[in-house]
Amino acid sequence: MKRENFTSRFGVLMAMAGSAIGLGNMWRFPYMLGEYGGAAFILVYILCVFLLSLPILFCEFIIGRRSQTNAFGAFGKLAPGTAWKWVGLISLFAPLIIVSYYSVIGGWSLQYFFKACTFGFTDYVTHEELDSMFNDFVSSPLIPILGHTFFLLITALIVMGGVKGGIERFGKVMMPILFVVVVLIAVRAMTLEGASEGITYLFKPDFSKLTPEVCAAALGQSFFSLSLGCGTMLTYASYVNKSENIAKSSAAIAVSDLVFAMIAGCAIMPAVFAFGLSPQSGPGLVFKTLPFIFSQMPLGALVGILFFLALLIAALTSSISLFEVGVAYLVEEKGMKRRTASLSIFLVTWIVGIFCSLSFGPLSEFEILGNTLFDFFDKLSANFLMTIGSFLVVLFAGWKMKKADVMDEFTNGGTLGGNVRMFNFIWFIIRWIAPLVIIAIFLSNLFI
Ligand code: TRP
Repeated sequence: MKRENFTSRFGVLMAMAGSAIGLGNMWRFPYMLGEYGGAAFILVYILCVFLLSLPILFCEFIIGRRSQTNAFGAFGKLAPGTAWKWVGLISLFAPLIIVSYYSVIGGWSLQYFFKACTFGFTDYVTHEELDSMFNDFVSSPLIPILGHTFFLLITALIVMGGVKGGIERFGKVMMPILFVVVVLIAVRAMTLEGASEGITYLFKPDFSKLTPEVCAAALGQSFFSLSLGCGTMLTYASYVNKSENIAKSSAAIAVSDLVFAMIAGCAIMPAVFAFGLSPQSGPGLVFKTLPFIFSQMPLGALVGILFFLALLIAALTSSISLFEVGVAYLVEEKGMKRRTASLSIFLVTWIVGIFCSLSFGPLSEFEILGNTLFDFFDKLSANFLMTIGSFLVVLFAGWKMKKADVMDEFTNGGTLGGNVRMFNFIWFIIRWIAPLVIIAIFLSNLFI
């Protein structure tokens, strides 16, 4: 059977940027910014994106497009008969774990979108009231599970539609909408009275805030945001046409992801400061602090609807990419039909996700290594699986694949002059810098 491919350059870009741009940009990045001190964090983050994450993205692109198969099969196909095939195992489990908890937040976004549409925030006049509304909501046993279920169902339906008819089509329509919506919100936030303090916070670095912990967090965030180390980009890259320029496409994805995170920062921080609130409210920033702002600011009800719509779209385009990793595996390695594969992944992640959701309420006492199930999955994937996954990807490209093959894929058989000239520098980063930095960060994560 012929493999489906993405059909246009724009489609590839929208699908892959759609994977990258997600809750990581609109929910995780802003609260990390708040916790780790604004502009200084952003600077380290930008360095991490270009010096490390982008070369790793090149590697995922190279492995995926060369192997023309799913993330599990790719390593075995490029290095037959070696233990490398087990590397694919990470791509099998990590995306499932991530979707399971990602869809819980996706579900919250869905429900907050409906709340915003029915003007559900306007009845709450104080910040404390909205705080407790959020806390009651996430800890109640049933309602968040409903959101999680619907969110996953939509994801499964899109993936069922196929690479071209589902994933590419959804991305091509939704990503431009997402972009326009977020820019509108940013303009509204930055023109609020008192917004300038927030803008300073975003753009004027205070280097005294830089610690090893901040650097490790920035690196982890850049992996998360670019969907690295879990086979997502690798799987998508396997659907990319052989004539595409890997360096250009990857750079476009990394830049859009970064720009988007910055716009999301500009949509959130100025408003937070304008209302005299603290940016340091952690994961609750988007769900507690923002609804309060929406209930207070001029045009807030409308901005609230747009914001949660954007959050929902961003989350969906990312969760379909995580979902696709498992589906591609089941279809190509196990011979399942796409529909059955999607339903199977739905079932597994639905059940695991229910436990993640319950860990905010009835199961909050149940702890693994001192974390609730949700936090455990988040840490396990962000600090551990993605780091190891990325490490193995660069090792594979830099030390197992032949240099000539990597170069051939990166330069489209030597036809892309710019990529040929860049290659030795990139090769050095892939072989030496990337693995060493990842080891350093990994060790520091263990000990911080
Ligand atoms: N990058 C996405 C975000 O920012 C999330 C995501 C999609 C992801 N695929 C991934 C994270 C693979 C880690 C690994 O929301």
